[in-house]
Amino acid sequence: ANPGKLANKTVVVTAGGTREAIDPVRYIGNHSSGKTGYAIAQAAVNQGAHVILITTVDRPAPALVTVKHVVSALDMLAALKDVYAQADVVVMAAAVADYRLSQPAEQKMKKTSKTSGLHLDLVQNPDILAQLGQMKTHQFLVGFAAETQDVLTNASKKLQQKRLDLLVANDVSQPGLGFATTNNVVTLLEPGKKPKTLPEQSKTAIARELIDLISERLG
Ligand code: PMT
Repeated sequence: ANPGKLANKTVVVTAGGTREAIDPVRYIGNHSSGKTGYAIAQAAVNQGAHVILITTVDRPAPALVTVKHVVSALDMLAALKDVYAQADVVVMAAAVADYRLSQPAEQKMKKTSKTSGLHLDLVQNPDILAQLGQMKTHQFLVGFAAETQDVLTNASKKLQQKRLDLLVANDVSQPGLGFATTNNVVTLLEPGKKPKTLPEQSKTAIARELIDLISERLG
């Protein structure tokens, strides 16, 4: 049997949107469904990789994948730190909240008077990818960028600042593409190379292309 292009490699994939607690029943979240991350996990397993999937969503995982469930950005960071040393590749497809509550309420928050609003005090979450970039020894680091404007400019800044080997940019302002859709349009950015936009295709097909590219770069 063909051992696959990623035989003997450990690939860590993150999927879904983080949930930042407001109180025991509410959270700040985003529209990530996990489809992209799960498709990448599947494509990596198909190429013989040992895959660790760190996920916020509860969908059936591909066979042979080790799954770690997390909720918040801080959980995700801790889970990644646990496995980073053994990873050959990390793919951050998760949509991580940039902010969390400074102090989530311990009990369900009550509505006060009829007219008053509510202010939540937020603090910044750590930038997980940037931290992984700083800690990099041999890992091939792949980030995503969800942008609504100046896609390429913003994406190339993220590629540099987070010390990534590959960045997958998507314009999430396009109807029918991006969050929770079947298909997507992505542009691949690599240090020192011209950005390459792939035609619209399913997230499954994109995942296959990404895994092929990553295995080529690992050599
Ligand atoms: O899950 P789906 O429904 O299939 O949707 C897929 C997707 C649109 C969520 C995915 O393709 C995507 O774009 N994921 C990244 C979303 C995001 O958080 O983008 P960003 O531009 O805010 O962050 C850039 C990169 O830094 C991302 O790889 C992100 O995981 C990472 N990040 C962001 C913030 C933070 N505090 N820590 C991080 O590591």
